Amino acid sequence: MTTEHAEPTETSDEFRLPRSRLANERLHALIPGGAHTYAKGDDQYPENLAPVISHGRGAHVWDVDGNRYVEYGSGLRSVSLGHAHPRVTEAVRRQLDRGSNFVRPSVLEVEAAERFLATVPTAEMVKFAKNGSDVTTAAVRLARAVTGRPRVAICADHPFYSVDDWFIGTTPMNAGVPAATTELTVAFPYGDLAATEELLTRYEDEVACLVLEPATLTEPPPGYLAGLRELADRHGCVLIFDEMITGFRWSEAGAQGLYGVVPDLSTFGKALGNGFAVSALAGRRDLMERGGLRHSHDRVFLLSTTHGAETHSLAAAMAVQTVYTEEGVTARLHALGERLAAGVREAAASMGVGDHVVVRGRASNLVFATLGEDLRPSQPYRTLFLRRLLTGGVLAPSFVVSSALTDADIEHTVDAVAQACAVYRKALDAGDPTPWLAGRPVKPVFRRLA
Ligand SMILES: Cc1ncc(COP(=O)(O)O)c(C=O)c1O
Repeated sequence: MTTEHAEPTETSDEFRLPRSRLANERLHALIPGGAHTYAKGDDQYPENLAPVISHGRGAHVWDVDGNRYVEYGSGLRSVSLGHAHPRVTEAVRRQLDRGSNFVRPSVLEVEAAERFLATVPTAEMVKFAKNGSDVTTAAVRLARAVTGRPRVAICADHPFYSVDDWFIGTTPMNAGVPAATTELTVAFPYGDLAATEELLTRYEDEVACLVLEPATLTEPPPGYLAGLRELADRHGCVLIFDEMITGFRWSEAGAQGLYGVVPDLSTFGKALGNGFAVSALAGRRDLMERGGLRHSHDRVFLLSTTHGAETHSLAAAMAVQTVYTEEGVTARLHALGERLAAGVREAAASMGVGDHVVVRGRASNLVFATLGEDLRPSQPYRTLFLRRLLTGGVLAPSFVVSSALTDADIEHTVDAVAQACAVYRKALDAGDPTPWLAGRPVKPVFRRLA
């Protein structure tokens, strides 16, 4: 079973990952959380069934046990073109021999800026960094600086904006964040303009910015984003769109390009580098310039990181944008997602669990919910479902597609889902999934206790 390139075919609990298990132990011995990113932790996978990856190509990854999986949500949704995409790796390779970081800006910095602003023409200036968190935090600082106001209003219905205190303080995992910092972050619900207006009125002249993903699982209600635009203008605060996920999955020009509502600032990352580390803060010239030298106000320490302009990551970003625009990648992501969603829904319905295994979200960014007998989200049922997908050769914490998926990959996934749903039905009939879990249930990332 552990031969290189073998696909796991077993559907029983015989499926084991001995090398991954050992590697997970070593990971935990040396790295807090057993991974450098919490969202990759083995706590979110069935017990003893958390593959440790050896390598990937296209939409496939291989674990250290030699099993091949069709992978979804690759690189926390960053690898939207598939692993080792030839046009991206070629662009990166070209830079590797030319040096990656100099004492003065590389000409690539301006070329990458020009490329980005051509892709997202609603922005007037851009500054690059490495992580999404760098740029959302920079947007918040800039908003505070230009408005002179202390509070940050975040959309409470979106799961993540930054690893920095202004956001982490609002999560259940807020140890180490001073209450005084968290108090400055207030929340508004998605899609509810009246509630947001009430918040802005309650904290009149105190809110520096509204931060939200322009869309996530649901489409914005008609007029919502335009209404937020108008509210931000009327209350004198900065409108920030976090386009980390929507960036290129909604349209090549981001969600702002799709919905036609222009934020003051927006932040990109993830798909921008197809797995290489690059993020972008983009927006209105008059605001962005405050992080520059051509004004007479107090200077804003906007973004300045040692590795922010690493040449091969900028080269990767340029190649990604070229692939997206030349090859119509966003449309392909939607088509693949639609095929997958239809197949999963049909498989779930045919196994009698159509109300329990539920696919949600935009086709280019699908997630699934696993509901228990009471139709409420269930971690035990998620565990059962993930186990069966893994044993069927599908590594899918979500159904977020990459453009590297083939029709055969989608078929393979739908077959694995159908088999998982058959077991799901048995568990529902038994009224208890425990016998099918072979260990503890999976856990969510954000929780107070380990
Ligand atoms: C919507 C959103 N914003 C910001 C971030 C932070 O990006 P990064 O992990 O690159 O710091 C994430 C990461 O998952 C995200 O999903």
